[in-house]
Amino acid sequence: MANVNLAVIYYSSSGTNYQLAKWAEEGAKESGAEVKVVKVPELAPEEAIAQNPEWKAHHDATKDVPEATPDVIEWADAIIFSTPTRFGNVASQMKQFLDSQGGLWASGKTVNKVVSAMTSAQNPHGGQEATILSLYTSMMHWGAIIVPPGYTDPVLFGAGGNPYGTSVTQSQDGKMVEDVEAAVKHQAKRTVDVASRVKG
Ligand SMILES: Cc1cc2nc3c(=O)[nH]c(=O)nc-3n(C[C@H](O)[C@H](O)[C@H](O)COP(=O)(O)O)c2cc1C
Repeated sequence: MANVNLAVIYYSSSGTNYQLAKWAEEGAKESGAEVKVVKVPELAPEEAIAQNPEWKAHHDATKDVPEATPDVIEWADAIIFSTPTRFGNVASQMKQFLDSQGGLWASGKTVNKVVSAMTSAQNPHGGQEATILSLYTSMMHWGAIIVPPGYTDPVLFGAGGNPYGTSVTQSQDGKMVEDVEAAVKHQAKRTVDVASRVKG
């Protein structure tokens, strides 16, 4: 198996997508990949974050996580994105990061990246598939190779059965409703496997 560099690029305000990113890191490392977990830059002002104790706590707890840069994309053979659902779409912080990659795109460096995506939302039908599809639309413009989990492993059924990418419902108390750890790890391993074949 070719050695794969995998970037897990996430945005999270209350920690769910950060946890998904960490599980993806574990799964990919178990497959032998070199992994970087990076967060997209925050756009909200400090005053807004400070007014929400959950957001502030997560913001402070992850201040040492490195920020995503074009260099990380260039380094990566594969990328797993994780973003909350915001009004049925990708969080603006993640969208802004994607929209900042025009230079990389213009130089052809987004082509053939092997990509996959994950999300979380407050409601099971609150736009989980739509969010992942929105992200995949941008990936088509990048010339990336989209690797959805499909139904490639029985663990996906226990995790809510989203074939577009792992998604999880976050209840009002902040906890995840479905147990998606195994599905995230499977998705990460599958992404590494396909990236290895593409690279090889
Ligand atoms: C501005 C805003 C818009 C949201 N829109 C949706 C939505 O359309 N559907 C939904 O189910 N949840 C929605 N949510 C809830 C988040 O998707 C959910 O809490 C998510 O799990 C947060 O992820 P995080 O913990 O990684 O920040 C929204 C939250 C915010 C703050």
